[in-house]
Amino acid sequence: MSQVKVKWRCPSNIAIVKYWGKKGIQIPCNSSLSLTLSNSFTEVEVELSDKTSSDAVQLAYYFEGEINEKFGARVAKFLEDNNEFFPYLADNAITIHSSNSFPHSAGIASSASAFGAISLALLDISYELEGKEKDDKFYNTASNLARLGSGSASRSMFSNYAMWGENSAIANSSNQHAIEVTDIHPAFQSMKDAILIVEDEPKKVSSSVGHSLMNNHPYAENRFKQANERTAELIEILKTGNMEAFIHMCESEALTLHAMMMCSMEYYLLVKPGTITAIEKLMEFRKESKVPVCFTLDAGPNVHVLYPKAYETEVENFINTELKDTYKKVIYDEGGNGPTKIKI
Ligand code: DP6
Repeated sequence: MSQVKVKWRCPSNIAIVKYWGKKGIQIPCNSSLSLTLSNSFTEVEVELSDKTSSDAVQLAYYFEGEINEKFGARVAKFLEDNNEFFPYLADNAITIHSSNSFPHSAGIASSASAFGAISLALLDISYELEGKEKDDKFYNTASNLARLGSGSASRSMFSNYAMWGENSAIANSSNQHAIEVTDIHPAFQSMKDAILIVEDEPKKVSSSVGHSLMNNHPYAENRFKQANERTAELIEILKTGNMEAFIHMCESEALTLHAMMMCSMEYYLLVKPGTITAIEKLMEFRKESKVPVCFTLDAGPNVHVLYPKAYETEVENFINTELKDTYKKVIYDEGGNGPTKIKI
């Protein structure tokens, strides 16, 4: 077969309304809504060659130039489970070279951007081999595939705001793939996200274990209901430009996520002293300065500071001075345009 090689870049995303709890085959227990980032991304180059083994999937997975057995095994399983999307797997070996724009030890979850990029590149090859044009359906299918790899990855396919998960109040919402949230007030069109790297060690408890602890969680049902209501509310907030309501929801979601961890049957704690100090100082700063800035957290100790670009001078000055003892490093990111195919 002729040489087939493609390269894709896919950004990470930060959830405002959190996905926490799943069932069946990567079906979320509630809908979620996130901001697609720009500077934190994964790039993958995927190349096909002749198979030399009789394995159902022959994959060599390199991360930053070195074979990565652990993540490679997760990707190989993903390919095997979803081989109907990739008919060429039967006759071809696959080599994936992957790299992240952010440092490996930054404590940034890379599974969203990695599964996003892998899904796009592999699906692109299917389209190329079948001579199909890429339309909107391409991104929905890529989002579906990315979800099967890692739930939050489903939301990285679209620019700025994306929601994932069936929600009776939101037309076209789906458990299978994310959709773009398009009607965005100017107040929320240029959001920045300064990621304070409070701790750069791997997480003590993986997200998969965290999700599973929602299975016999005393507050699960109320939490899922709340998140569904909030997703619909947030769409309205983004449309009308209600910054105060955004700040309240964003911070409450972050603390609720961590509260769920702290009161699951096998309780655990991911926040660190630096996390708490940064949050307290940020709330104080907002109160005094009236600058519209807020925080969110993912499943770790790092603090995502969100603010409109119009306030970047004030907020970044605050981060560099008042917060400097709370973090090891800051990664400045912002809302972005979603994935791109890279010419090679
Ligand atoms: C706290 O998408 O990492 O970041 O589907 O098991 O791969 P898996 O989980 P993952 O969970 C992300 C959880 C979160 C919230 C969110 O991104 O919505």
